[in-house]
Amino acid sequence: MRILCIGDIVSRIGRNMLFKYVDDLKYKAGIDFVIANGENSNHGRGMTKSGYSEMKRAGVDAFTTGNHVWGAKEIVSIMNDEDDVIRPANLPDGVPGRGSAVFTASNGVRVGIINLMGQVDMIPCENPFAAAEREVEKLLEKTPVIIVDFHAEATSEKMAMGYFLDGKVSAVFGTHTHIQTADAKILKNGTGYITDIGMTGAADSILGMNKKIIIKRFRTGIPQKFELAEGRGQFCGCIFTIDESTGKCTDVERIWFDE
Ligand SMILES: [Fe+2]
Ligand SMILES: [Fe+2]
Repeated sequence: MRILCIGDIVSRIGRNMLFKYVDDLKYKAGIDFVIANGENSNHGRGMTKSGYSEMKRAGVDAFTTGNHVWGAKEIVSIMNDEDDVIRPANLPDGVPGRGSAVFTASNGVRVGIINLMGQVDMIPCENPFAAAEREVEKLLEKTPVIIVDFHAEATSEKMAMGYFLDGKVSAVFGTHTHIQTADAKILKNGTGYITDIGMTGAADSILGMNKKIIIKRFRTGIPQKFELAEGRGQFCGCIFTIDESTGKCTDVERIWFDE
């Protein structure tokens, strides 16, 4: 089976990219299930109900999130009403939502998804490696096909998670930096891996934001109010081909479309 994972969707331009490419990829690449990171889908921060509905219409089956998960208040009611939006599993006990879930893909195969967040240069959270062990054990009772979105800043922490879970899950992909890395591969024990799948939003930007404002912030050191970038879009992600009987990854393909 083939699973398409889409990197952080930033605002309207990012959401529009879904309508442009997801259906087409489903048809041409034989995609059975679509996962997208939606933490920036509302104007760069969080997710709203209307944005959620729009992205579902565009063909996303399930959403992961990250440090910007609480950026729009509506996320709590989305998580209460819908079962296909998850947040990092290693957040403190008692916060809304859940960190993993099992879905049924279009080919009838059950797909487990785990969302984790890194500890290096991120908001405080529990140890993601301990959380990964706990969540993998739970999902393996239901399916051998498990995909992990590790939302983290440090490439070393992300690689450590990939090797830590090698042979235990089908794929580990990174999100959060919004910059796609060129290291898509299959690890020794059959886990597909990429450090970061990149960003789906404005191409001529820094992280989907207006680059002039970000440069000014770096140039002067004075905090600036970020604004979204405009212009043409880009669509970034990764397709993992998985043997559903073993859960092993047999192919990894990076996707980067620039309008
Ligand atoms: Fe993001
Ligand atoms: Fe993030």
